[in-house]
Amino acid sequence: MIDIARDPLLQPYQLKHLTLRNRVMSTAHEPAYSEDGMPKDRYRLYHVEKARGGIALTMTAGSAVVSRDSPPAFGNLLAYKDDIVPWLRRLADECHEHGSAVMIQLTHLGRRTGWNRADWLPVLAPSPIREPAHRAFPKAAEDWDLDRIVADYAAAAQRMAAAGLDGFEVEAYGHLPDQFWSPATNRRTDAYGGDLDRRMHFSLRVLRAMREAVGERFIIGLRMVADEDWETGLTREDGMEIARRFKASGLVDFLNIIRGHIDTDAALLDVIPIMGMRSAPSLDFAGEIRVETRFPVFHAARIADVATARHAIAEGKLDMVGMTRAHIADPHIVRKIMEGREHTIRPCVGATYCLDRIYEGNDALCVHNAATGREAMMPHIIAPSAGPRLRVVVVGAGPAGLEAARVSAERGHAVTVFEALDQPGGQIRLATRLPRRRDLIGIVDWRMEQLAAFGVALRFSTYAEADDVLAEHPDVVFIATGGVPNTEVLTEGNDLTVSAWDVLSGQAKPAERVLVFDDNGAYPAMQAAEMLAAADSGVELVTPERFFAPEMGGLNHALFARAFQRHGVRITINTRLVSVRREGNALVAVLGGDYGETLQERIVDQVVVEHGTLPDDTLYEALRPASVNLGAVDYEALVAGRPQTVVPNDHGTFRLFRIGDAVASRNIHAAIYDALRLAKDL
Ligand SMILES: Cc1cc2nc3c(=O)[nH]c(=O)nc-3n(C[C@H](O)[C@H](O)[C@H](O)COP(=O)(O)O)c2cc1C
Ligand code: SF4
Repeated sequence: MIDIARDPLLQPYQLKHLTLRNRVMSTAHEPAYSEDGMPKDRYRLYHVEKARGGIALTMTAGSAVVSRDSPPAFGNLLAYKDDIVPWLRRLADECHEHGSAVMIQLTHLGRRTGWNRADWLPVLAPSPIREPAHRAFPKAAEDWDLDRIVADYAAAAQRMAAAGLDGFEVEAYGHLPDQFWSPATNRRTDAYGGDLDRRMHFSLRVLRAMREAVGERFIIGLRMVADEDWETGLTREDGMEIARRFKASGLVDFLNIIRGHIDTDAALLDVIPIMGMRSAPSLDFAGEIRVETRFPVFHAARIADVATARHAIAEGKLDMVGMTRAHIADPHIVRKIMEGREHTIRPCVGATYCLDRIYEGNDALCVHNAATGREAMMPHIIAPSAGPRLRVVVVGAGPAGLEAARVSAERGHAVTVFEALDQPGGQIRLATRLPRRRDLIGIVDWRMEQLAAFGVALRFSTYAEADDVLAEHPDVVFIATGGVPNTEVLTEGNDLTVSAWDVLSGQAKPAERVLVFDDNGAYPAMQAAEMLAAADSGVELVTPERFFAPEMGGLNHALFARAFQRHGVRITINTRLVSVRREGNALVAVLGGDYGETLQERIVDQVVVEHGTLPDDTLYEALRPASVNLGAVDYEALVAGRPQTVVPNDHGTFRLFRIGDAVASRNIHAAIYDALRLAKDL
């Protein structure tokens, strides 16, 4: 049991005049909640929730852009507009009321954005070298560009001071300032290129102008790469020298340390490691920078659990520990530590659904906390119901069922869960069969611990029929029975195929030559292909899509791509599996497509078909006539976050809700959100 009074994580930290109440922070991350480039209500409520949850410092924005010719790459805030000041002031005021400090990350993205958006201005960089991830061919920045951008940084700094923020940091990894530092991106021969002095010239001009704009007292940090870990990039020695020069300049108050480069998804993955990768890979490195430079050092990179965070502070590796995705999963981490309830923290499992979504042009959402980013309507803390204690029956203990049970139990209702299998988890458990994705089980384990604490009745190995449900005399029934693989997609030979589930569960043993047909575009086929390849099968992944697994974001994609390349998985796009027939001991897979009549054949030993699931809705249909709402959901109320009041059947005795894949083939977040938004109002 940790002594709260002595917990290293809970000790205050003095940064110049600013007292941070503990050592836990959330580093800059753009959740793409901005509206018109402004941090309006959604944005504010998201940060205020973390302040309520006890965090010491929330670094707002990910890369708020200081110039027009740095158009948003993923919903970035527009720090070059004066309108941002009142929005940020309100955000800061409300976070301050809850005791949390607020800073912001400012940047010019340089080549790390696109020209074909916002004002259609050309993208610029030190030299005309394209960033593979964002694909723009930049122009080499001219003198007048650099003068203008330096002035833009200074003007943005003034706006942040006017908004009452506690400070800001300048983003210098993969963005314009370090695009100048790095030999990989700076080939200039003028005053901004050549030796380190010249390559630092632009960033020093920026920092000087910002310091002049806000004065000595204002806190300015630098989120800097101190080793690009890249043959053509900055070495550790370069990074250390840059840090030393900034120390000597007196312009910077703290460093937020990054190791690695981010110009491709594969490289970014090592800067922001995901599930199945090392925990805290750059923590020791950040600690070395702290010792050598004597700067206050902040750092984040997969420090997802409190024990590692505590270690980082206790061992003097960091002054402030970034737990960024950890707070997306649970914004109340510090409060729970302070209340001695560390064990109830909702774990960040590293699925990185959050980050993958923003690179696909969506908002950041946590795979298993559907309240994050929806604070206006979805509660992080479930309040007990003021109404009568209801009897709630949940059928199915996958993510939807477990969430419905958890939220109902927190509301104070009497909950019974039926599950046909002997273990909870549904498709999550299947997904964990791929060893590097086994942390997904945290989604299940956390809920099971909550259910145990609330005394929920769990009936495993029980295939519930309508009578079993009715025998409980329920007031509310959640059907979370999930789905079954839908493999009947071929013109011939459906019976000769196996499903991705068969492979994941081990029911189908890996054969020598396997064709995996992915007509879903999400995780199951990818996981099956990786498991087969790891078991030494020769695998060809065939998809009708333009690129493989379009439903998967870039960071998760990168780990699959690495595994596929390692194992020599062949990938065929724009192609459909039409039919399968047996010939002797082998199978003949006939391939066609949407683009022509030419058919090809592959001789293989096993064909895997992935086409999502069909809902297992037998029980739902059986119960519908006896329910008050006949299974109907008022979507207007649902979307507005209001309680359900549909009563088309006066003779019904309970409310019936179907959730998760029992409705249609979707994903973990959809299942959990279905459950939360219906159960929170019971
Ligand atoms: C949705 C999302 C957006 C991010 N955007 C930025 C960004 O704009 N600028 C930045 O410096 N880091 C960004 N990051 C990286 C985080 O600041 C942090 O370094 C990273 O998530 C690793 O820390 P963690 O393991 O504690 O999450 C982003 C992270 C996430 C999850
Ligand atoms: S989506 Fe995954 S990585 Fe992101 S916060 Fe949620 S659990 Fe963590």
